[in-house]
Amino acid sequence: MCGIVGYIGDAKKTKQILLEGLLRLEYRGYDSSGIAVLNKSVTNIVKAKGKIAELQKKIGKEKLEGQLGIGHTRWATHGIASEVNAHPHTSGTTSVVHNGIIENYVELKSELKQKGFKFISDTDSEILAHLVESGLENGKSFTESARGAFKKVKGACAVVVITEREPEKLIVLRNFSPVVVGLGENENYIASDIPAIIPYTNRIVYLEDGDMAIVEKNEVTITDLNGTEVKREEVLVSSDPASFEKGGFKHFMLKEIYEQPRSALDTLRGKISGDFSSIELAGINTKQLNKIKKIITLGCGTSYHSCLIGKLLIENLSRIPVEVSIASEFRYSNPIIDQDTLVIVVSQSGETADTSEALLEAKRLGAKTLAITNVFNSKIARESDQVIYTRAGTEIGVASTKAFTTQLLVFYILSNILGKAKGRISEEDISSNVKSLVGVPLLIEKILKLDDQIKALAQKYNNFNNFIFLGRGLNFPIALEGALKLKEISYIHAEGYAAGEMKHGPIALVDENVPVLFIAPKNGANFTKIIGNLREIKARNGLVIFLTTEKGADEYKEYIDDLIEIPNCDYNISPIATIVPLQLFAYHIARIKGTDIDQPRNLAKVVTVE
Ligand code: AGP
Repeated sequence: MCGIVGYIGDAKKTKQILLEGLLRLEYRGYDSSGIAVLNKSVTNIVKAKGKIAELQKKIGKEKLEGQLGIGHTRWATHGIASEVNAHPHTSGTTSVVHNGIIENYVELKSELKQKGFKFISDTDSEILAHLVESGLENGKSFTESARGAFKKVKGACAVVVITEREPEKLIVLRNFSPVVVGLGENENYIASDIPAIIPYTNRIVYLEDGDMAIVEKNEVTITDLNGTEVKREEVLVSSDPASFEKGGFKHFMLKEIYEQPRSALDTLRGKISGDFSSIELAGINTKQLNKIKKIITLGCGTSYHSCLIGKLLIENLSRIPVEVSIASEFRYSNPIIDQDTLVIVVSQSGETADTSEALLEAKRLGAKTLAITNVFNSKIARESDQVIYTRAGTEIGVASTKAFTTQLLVFYILSNILGKAKGRISEEDISSNVKSLVGVPLLIEKILKLDDQIKALAQKYNNFNNFIFLGRGLNFPIALEGALKLKEISYIHAEGYAAGEMKHGPIALVDENVPVLFIAPKNGANFTKIIGNLREIKARNGLVIFLTTEKGADEYKEYIDDLIEIPNCDYNISPIATIVPLQLFAYHIARIKGTDIDQPRNLAKVVTVE
């Protein structure tokens, strides 16, 4: 989705703060961008199609000084990626940047046209500038005009608006789309995502849905849309600015793949007792969990795949029935929920609209809710009854990697906690499972040493146009995830399937032009079945890449074109191990293809529209 930045303070700093902020938000959306700087009461606007680098080129040496300004990097929803559709949008003295969707913009647009307003873009966002300007033209104050405009629009959106008539403030709206205020000394900041402003301040005020903030140089006033002042606490956030640097890696994605031993360790820290004998989830009300009779796990994309694995782990260790739902389907599926249902909502960003809407629906139906998320105080974290944070650190690459493996760790820990609460597993079981968990960082380290081998595989397979990934049990979702990684960064078509499903139709796709990648740890309950599937594929001249544990394929090498062997590990942990070579495989193929790995076409890191 789009990225938003705002600043008020030192006129000499505005341009730089806006541009640096947009660069740190570029992963949120990157098909066009722009900034507006208010110098005394004159607005200077520069917009450009393409990445922020194009905007920087356009600005060149222009000073663009001004006491305040707004910036925007766009992921197009209404209207193609173009300069005219780039934000900020203007109307008379007013300029606005917007993230989200205005559901009633067609009717508002015709009303404004009847009042004589001229539209130049194909976006829904432009109406916000005209709505505010129309209030100002009718003699209303900036605050009243903005409030009037915000009350008229329907839909999830974050808005920042400025006007030449009152050039000493920015007005912000948060309505189901994230935006925060950063506090400084004689200066203040606005951002749709904390990374944009973390180098300047760690003093953050999280706006709530329906909040309108009037941000001046030395004062921030927050009200609801009726003008009643509301109190929002200042929070000190800790975010390591190094997260926003590539640290010597060519891409954030590769850096984050290599950070997985560290992120696993950070996620485990504080959840395993010092003597490695027990597992705890501080802050989780396990008494509430004991009453649970049914669990629903839900998420989108990679987070949905971790939900599929979470189901199997929780059912295996606690015998609590678990349903899995794609978040965007959940809301419209008339779900069966009561007070004994726990809905586990998984989201790296904690801001995905489909997922946060599903969470609100689950709460409306009376479910208990637990979030597994990577972003502190994100919307989903704040809306849930309970939260378990993956401590993966900031994930910049659009393709989710370290967030996924830490989600799996949390699910494994949670399934042990639930299993113990339900009396399904003993202290000895837990102690043995802890040993598996403690070994994960080193296990990933060892698997990362396969990087050169995987890179060579990518050299061999990067010209194919279709791939099939196959797995069974805990590794069927890994087949889905491996296929998603390849699709989203290399733009090559890839399907993930349950290996046993191939013979029911999809095997018709198989010939020598379709590499089939098996994910099959030797200690998988259904390993012999997957060998049967391997023979079926080979009998149809499929090219086989076989990912298994050490010596797992020694008797079957005649069916295998390329073998990837990972160290032996506990089957329940195996998805955390098997996904790493697939992340590297997707990365190296994309690198050979020359695609934009950290910012793949058509995608954004956080999807805040439904
Ligand atoms: C994963 O690589 C994709 N970027 C995408 O599927 C992502 O997992 C999905 O949009 C959900 O995001 P979330 O975890 O932040 O909710």
